[in-house]
Amino acid sequence: MSKTVNGFSKFNKLEKVNWLVSTFFNNDEKVKTILKQYWNENEVLQDLHDDFIENTISNFYLPFAIAPNFVINGNEYSVPMTIEESSVVAAASLVAKFWSTRGGFKANVISTTKIGQVHFMYEGNKSALEKYFNSKKEHLFKVTENITKNMRKRGGGILTIELRDKTLELENYYQLHVTFETADSMGANFINSCLETIAKEFENDDIQTVMCILSNYVPDCLVHAEVSCKVDDLYAENSEVLAQKFVQAVHIANAEPHRAVTHNKGIMNGVDAVVLATGNDFRAIEAGAHAYASRNGTYKSLTNATIENGIFKFWIEIPLAVGTIGGLTSLHPLSKLSLRLLGNPSAEELMKIIAVAGLAQNFAALRALTTTGIQKGHMKMHLTNIIKQLGASNADKQFLIKYFENKTITHNAVIEAYNKLAQDK
Ligand code: MEV
Repeated sequence: MSKTVNGFSKFNKLEKVNWLVSTFFNNDEKVKTILKQYWNENEVLQDLHDDFIENTISNFYLPFAIAPNFVINGNEYSVPMTIEESSVVAAASLVAKFWSTRGGFKANVISTTKIGQVHFMYEGNKSALEKYFNSKKEHLFKVTENITKNMRKRGGGILTIELRDKTLELENYYQLHVTFETADSMGANFINSCLETIAKEFENDDIQTVMCILSNYVPDCLVHAEVSCKVDDLYAENSEVLAQKFVQAVHIANAEPHRAVTHNKGIMNGVDAVVLATGNDFRAIEAGAHAYASRNGTYKSLTNATIENGIFKFWIEIPLAVGTIGGLTSLHPLSKLSLRLLGNPSAEELMKIIAVAGLAQNFAALRALTTTGIQKGHMKMHLTNIIKQLGASNADKQFLIKYFENKTITHNAVIEAYNKLAQDK
């Protein structure tokens, strides 16, 4: 039987499920049950989710959690996080509490400019193109006035339009490099609409537009967050040595891309979790952050650390093009709730909170890696997951958690202990 289908998108949801289950699951009714048990009973809510994307057949839950006790620029936050990886929220909460008694996090937005480009091919004389561009430039702003009207009211709009010669990189390739301020929205639709209008107006017989699209590389949409304290206040004992080790761990990430990727992955554990919880686009954020990490030609750490005059300082600089209005932020009930929890922040405020979540996560990872090792905390969370998989009773769960308090946790060791527990009953 063929496993391809025509007109799938026209099927209703049940028809889609039926086709899937008969074609790929041998009519296994259990598959239908699994899919259906994730449908929301509230039809309006389910319809909303169905319409986020195409061909929706169910919902895929991720945990939605809170990391309390973040103090950022003197303001107190409980930060919403959506993530499947154990330990991330626990680490964020622990670190938030830790720094709340050491002056909290400080954060500031460095810049908020976004970029879009009209990519085109032109075979003619460069100075003729420049002349043509200069004669058109004002008009290019004018033709977008309708689109930019509301954005301008909110303090945004098109900032600059520049002609860039890219023929050294690719024969006949030029671009209109356009910079934008998009205020509290992420601005993807706004930027792309402006670019397409500009391209139409700019195109002529000699100029062949290839594409118009925003760039997710936003090195000028940048936020800085930091913590600092006396070295002596960093660890309960051996603070000087451990602080040095911590700074060395950051230096290693700066010197060695293999380590830098994992180091930054840990940062993105915190960043993505808040980005997702607030209805922003984590793929865009990921792409932009990693590109920024390699802006000087080598992939490096997004964080840095120093010890000077007995003061430990640890900071992050990361590009974050996020929005607090429009898109999913205003559609998904949990994103709206997240933003409300954060005090309905502006995009700039949200940038600061997300950068702090990334810095906190990196602090937790480096502190663990350079002291106890990462597995202690990880395996503790892992233990509860294994216990759950085993279907252990609550009493058995408590017993196993106590039993493994001072023992190395491995998958096998937990299963053995559980089996022994069952035998001893
Ligand atoms: C795991 O998700 C993240 C870490 O590997 C980050 C790091 O190594 O810095 C713990």
